[in-house]
Amino acid sequence: IYLGIDIGTSGTKTIAIREGGEILAESSATYPLHHPKPMWSEQDPDDWWNAVVKTVRRVVKEAKARPGDVKAIGLSGQMHGSVFLDKEDKVIRPALLWNDQRTVAECAEIEERAGGRSKLIKMVANPALTGFTAPKILWLRNNEPRNFARLAKVLLPKDEIRRRLTGEYATEVSDASGMLLLDVAKRDWSKQLLSKLELDESLLGKVYESEEVTGKLTADAAKLLGLTTDCVVVGGAGDCAANAVGNGVVKQGVLASSLGTSGVMFVHSDEVAIDPEGRLHTFCHAVRGKWHMMGVTLCAAGTLEWFVQRLCADLRNGRGKQDPYTILNAEAADIAPGSQGLFTLPYLAGERTPHADPNARGCFIGLTLSHTRGHITRSIMEGVAYSLRDSLEIISDLGVPVRQIRAGGGGAKSPLWRQIQADVFGKKVVTINAEQGPAYGVALLAATGAGAYKNIQEACAATIQVVSETSVDRKAAKIYNEAFPVYQGLYKSLKNDF
Ligand code: XUL
Repeated sequence: IYLGIDIGTSGTKTIAIREGGEILAESSATYPLHHPKPMWSEQDPDDWWNAVVKTVRRVVKEAKARPGDVKAIGLSGQMHGSVFLDKEDKVIRPALLWNDQRTVAECAEIEERAGGRSKLIKMVANPALTGFTAPKILWLRNNEPRNFARLAKVLLPKDEIRRRLTGEYATEVSDASGMLLLDVAKRDWSKQLLSKLELDESLLGKVYESEEVTGKLTADAAKLLGLTTDCVVVGGAGDCAANAVGNGVVKQGVLASSLGTSGVMFVHSDEVAIDPEGRLHTFCHAVRGKWHMMGVTLCAAGTLEWFVQRLCADLRNGRGKQDPYTILNAEAADIAPGSQGLFTLPYLAGERTPHADPNARGCFIGLTLSHTRGHITRSIMEGVAYSLRDSLEIISDLGVPVRQIRAGGGGAKSPLWRQIQADVFGKKVVTINAEQGPAYGVALLAATGAGAYKNIQEACAATIQVVSETSVDRKAAKIYNEAFPVYQGLYKSLKNDF
């Protein structure tokens, strides 16, 4: 039996799988998110630990596992968060999370110390974003000097759990990439940037590949969890890479397009490809010696959800018995591609890729008296697909091949939205048997690390299959190809007015 543990932002999910991929048990536990000031976002690492202990014990019981049955554990979690430890391993202050926005000044400081944005991108493959970890360390130094003076280690959320499980200070390449301190091309800490930031490498854990064994459970942890000290803990992965593994995105040519609240285009790459403008994240993949690029649309299915919640209250209140999304999908399916000239810019929460513009705003452009709710719904779906195509175009321009697009997330349940994606991307879109999240991906990494599979590609091939295909409708694709530059031009015309 192998366990996958995902320390998410709203809760921790643990699953137990058998070799072969069958899920034996799963359990979740939630914890609070704290916002002590506007735009701040913090959590207490003890809350994660309690959730890990609770959910592991539950799945071990439910899977009817004897202590020695669990051979390996894989860890996943929210990326970028900073757990600050003193030399006695005491947590110095609550962890700053990926969605914390307090580090605008420190991002500027990092660029300056690096000698400019493009030099920084050369060193660590990415620009400084407020969510990343390095700006959080500088924030501590600049704003809480007494806490900084006590600082002995900075660990990512899942790596703090690893320390409590194994006693080791360790991380792995995919999550370490999001600290902005890793030389992503070399898969090791960037001595160059650490020195420019005047940070000591001893603050950081040892870097492993994702399926490598990083340690064994301590006697205390084994006893607490009902397992044995023979159980190993593998590197695991940040939640984005772990999720990709859980969906079999582990070889060249495969891209996952995910329509959740936010939308993500995640592509595997055998070579490291870096956008000199830093519009995409380039991180190490959880596949040994490989990388991934990732573009993020902040409000994807979230835009349609907003439309349902705020503007279609009559549907939501259950007039009639159908689900509001089913009704809207049926109405949108009756509208011709292009929504009769209506465009949606889905920037309701600002935008990350490609604009990196927190001030961008959502827009409907081109409304006429003949437009209906169906037109608006379809135009939202098209706008979100255009916004994902922006990421796809950057990926293609970098020379990363895309042969298969796997649609996932809540939005991919809609056949219409899958068709719109295929037509806007000009590529066939497929879905897989059971879309599994990050916990499943790291359970497969644990099985691989324990020797059940030769490598993670083999683990995925044994457990994940394509079950549906949506081909491109050439007529619709032509319409979208003509409309896409118009969509792109609208942001350019409006950006100074937001
Ligand atoms: C990735 C990111 C989020 C977090 C939260 O860059 O910021 O996906 O990992 O889960």
